[in-house]
Amino acid sequence: MSVTVTHRGPIAVVTIDNPPVNALSLAVRTQLFALVEALDADEHVRAIVLTGGGKLFVGGADITEFGRPVELPSLPALIERIENAAKPWIAAVRGAALGGGLELALGCHRRVATAEARFALPEINLGIIPGSGGTQRLPRLIGIETAIRVAAENLTLDGTRAAELGFIDRLVQEPLVDAAEAFALEALSRPLPEPASRRPLATPAATAWEEATQRIGRAARGASAPLRALEALRFGAENGFEAGLANERAIFLELRASDESAALRYLFFAERAAPRPAGLRGIAALPLASAGVIGGGTMGVGIAAALRNAGIPVVLVERDEQSLERGLTALKAIFEAARKRASLSEEEAEARMRGVTGAVGYEALAGCDLVIEAVFEDLAVKRDVFATLGRVCRPDAILATNTSYIDPRQIAEGLPHPDRFIGLHFFSPAQVMKLLEIVPIPETRPEVLATGFELARRLGKVPVRSGICDGFIGNRILRRYRAEAEAMVRDGVAPSAIDAAMRGFGYAMGPFEMQDMAGLDISFLHREAARARGEAIAETPGDLLVRAGRKGQKSGGGWYDYAPGNRTPIPSPDAARLIAPLVGAPLELAPDRIVARLIDAMALEGQAILDEGIAGSPSDIDLVEVHGYGFPRRHGGPMFLSSRQPS
Ligand code: NAI
Repeated sequence: MSVTVTHRGPIAVVTIDNPPVNALSLAVRTQLFALVEALDADEHVRAIVLTGGGKLFVGGADITEFGRPVELPSLPALIERIENAAKPWIAAVRGAALGGGLELALGCHRRVATAEARFALPEINLGIIPGSGGTQRLPRLIGIETAIRVAAENLTLDGTRAAELGFIDRLVQEPLVDAAEAFALEALSRPLPEPASRRPLATPAATAWEEATQRIGRAARGASAPLRALEALRFGAENGFEAGLANERAIFLELRASDESAALRYLFFAERAAPRPAGLRGIAALPLASAGVIGGGTMGVGIAAALRNAGIPVVLVERDEQSLERGLTALKAIFEAARKRASLSEEEAEARMRGVTGAVGYEALAGCDLVIEAVFEDLAVKRDVFATLGRVCRPDAILATNTSYIDPRQIAEGLPHPDRFIGLHFFSPAQVMKLLEIVPIPETRPEVLATGFELARRLGKVPVRSGICDGFIGNRILRRYRAEAEAMVRDGVAPSAIDAAMRGFGYAMGPFEMQDMAGLDISFLHREAARARGEAIAETPGDLLVRAGRKGQKSGGGWYDYAPGNRTPIPSPDAARLIAPLVGAPLELAPDRIVARLIDAMALEGQAILDEGIAGSPSDIDLVEVHGYGFPRRHGGPMFLSSRQPS
């Protein structure tokens, strides 16, 4: 049974027990609906407490049902039935009441919750809006402005805040059901409050809606659900509850069938599966109480910050005092910036730095459970580092490299215990970007691999296992993407047209703007090195720019020109002249053709990566693109898109 009833005198306690998140599946809805009828008819029952079994109230609808037509009783019908019950229903909430769970609580006549309870409407993250009255009942209880924040901007309310807003009638402590029963008994003598649907709602001025539209539209970056949630809120505020409810349901059903929602649901499941790869079930991670980072440059500092943000003490090692000082200063600046954004308090920012030990000698690493190397991208330098680590670290410490391109098997050569070696490839800025590519070598022990996944979990990152190839999954696809973008330039398409098309698709930046920001010289040097080894690599337009000193923003220009102190790209006649020998007659391509060419190139490289066994699944590749390279979430990823388009 997923829904149970126990009787405590005149109070019936209804508990939804549907692990893991008490989702409102068809079975749960059917049982609840029948219970409302039965309890209405039961003359011994005077009030009902509705609660969730385990640690939470209800995590939401059952999204595995989303691909099918809605089966009855629908959630809106159930909630309406509860609202119209002859006896008072009291929601008793601990933990999360999310989406449909919050909507269910809104249908009850009264609500109690613990201070730590959490209320949210996360539907927009799945490309839909609340479809069971969330956008209609919530504003009638907490006011339209906060309801906009909750339904269209992902604001979570805790129990305390919800009580201040009048949405929770009483804050209670555990044991929750005892407290809810006492509240229900007291309330028996009072008249039933108006249900949420019949309460009045003040309509804000048109300017307030305009302001919200601007704000939400900017944050949504092309995703449609947040603005549709706002539309549902506004329609209900202006046209009354009944019309608002019908309109909300219509938008919900339309979005539920949209490509955007399919993409976002696909990513939701991929992200949930990523931390628990099939091959590692039952293999325990090793202890991770302290970590070392070698190299206090761009990556080392970001990795150290990510570790500290997860509460792990860090030893940061540099090659000399001056570099160490620079690294520690950069690390401090990260926490300082977080303090200024108010995401860290002053004490927290200080505590983050107190957990960092700077050192020039490697001896300081002797006690670390894990050491991550982020020194120059140079095999000889890296081998030296690991030879030293092999001597100073505990024999059971995990040794990891953050290399972007070098074969980790070569880096590990000669190590006394290669079974504890692994690639952990972070993305810049490492304290922000969610992707962690985990690259075992053939000798890596399963426990060490499991610890890589455990580290990702602790750092709040999305782990993807990659096999060994040049650039692993992400940089290999990036190279193909760039090559295709340059091929289009050769065909005569303007770089600015390509960038504009990719921004229109949802990237924050197009491929040429991105190269200008990151610097053109890194991949140029990579190609030059390959040429020096005798590989036949043709001259590219990018090579012509670097040879003329145009390395990107840092040298004042690359594919674009830049005004001093300004990062806005300006199309460059100089760059056009420099690359002219490799470029055909001007060609205008429609933006969707440009996008299709680049997505196809990425998907083809992805398919090769799958065929070679470098990636375990298409969704792993999509997770890499979304979390490491800014692929717009609402499109799911290159593999997802190409699987849905007729080729
Ligand atoms: P960086 O040049 O900013 O930093 C490297 C740091 O290592 C320097 O501060 C240097 O003083 C220090 N260092 C060099 N030899 C050392 C030694 N023997 N002992 C201690 N410290 C030493 O380089 P960045 O960008 O941080 O890259 C580091 C590694 O991370 C490279 O392997 C790179 O390929 C990889 N990587 C870089 C990404 C990026 O976006 N920059 C992204 C992912 C990986």
